[in-house]
Amino acid sequence: MRQNQHIKYTLNSINDVYYSKLYMANSKNFHTIGDLKFDPKKLQNALKQVLKIKNYDTAGGITNFGAICLNQIPGDPNSTKGNNARGIYWTKPDHTGTEASRDKLIDERSYTEFVKDYEHTYFKEVYEKLSKKFKLGRVRILLKEPRSTLSWHRDPEPRLHIPIITNHGCIMVIEDVAKHLPADGSVYVTNNLKYHNAFNGGEENRVHLVACLPDYKFN
Ligand SMILES: [Fe+2]
Repeated sequence: MRQNQHIKYTLNSINDVYYSKLYMANSKNFHTIGDLKFDPKKLQNALKQVLKIKNYDTAGGITNFGAICLNQIPGDPNSTKGNNARGIYWTKPDHTGTEASRDKLIDERSYTEFVKDYEHTYFKEVYEKLSKKFKLGRVRILLKEPRSTLSWHRDPEPRLHIPIITNHGCIMVIEDVAKHLPADGSVYVTNNLKYHNAFNGGEENRVHLVACLPDYKFN
């Protein structure tokens, strides 16, 4: 009996170490923005409001990809659609390991107008607060469907994440480090210039607000 208890305690502490490593989002390529926090319930309500008036753009039918742009090039609603909702990235698609580029280059700095349709939502307040602290490129709501993954790829700039809906099976991997980003209103910046991936191993959607940060520097 005593021995069983000892085994149980040992297993618990192994779990604690495992999850604290997985959840602690501050490391070389994962930063937590300590002085910014949003209301997780308000974020979820804002998402519901947006989804009442807009469907996810699949960038021309890309599997496992869905995006809604919250900002646009002033006066240009096309800048939120199709390939503009996705943007350039580099990947190593086959056994040769040769890098290839995909999709089109986006002028992130030209996305300066918050889309009017969403001005009644909490996302407007989030956008204003983020704009005061960071030079923002596109600010998108990104969907990752259950049991799906991205490619192994790198992007042109770091990305800011505010998880809105997530589950324990949603993990982002940058090089050889894996992290779960909890949806507790925290704001994270990830070094997407390094090779990375994100997968949703759960059975519910994962939804993050993701902003491109063209001026953010990782040391
Ligand atoms: Fe990426």
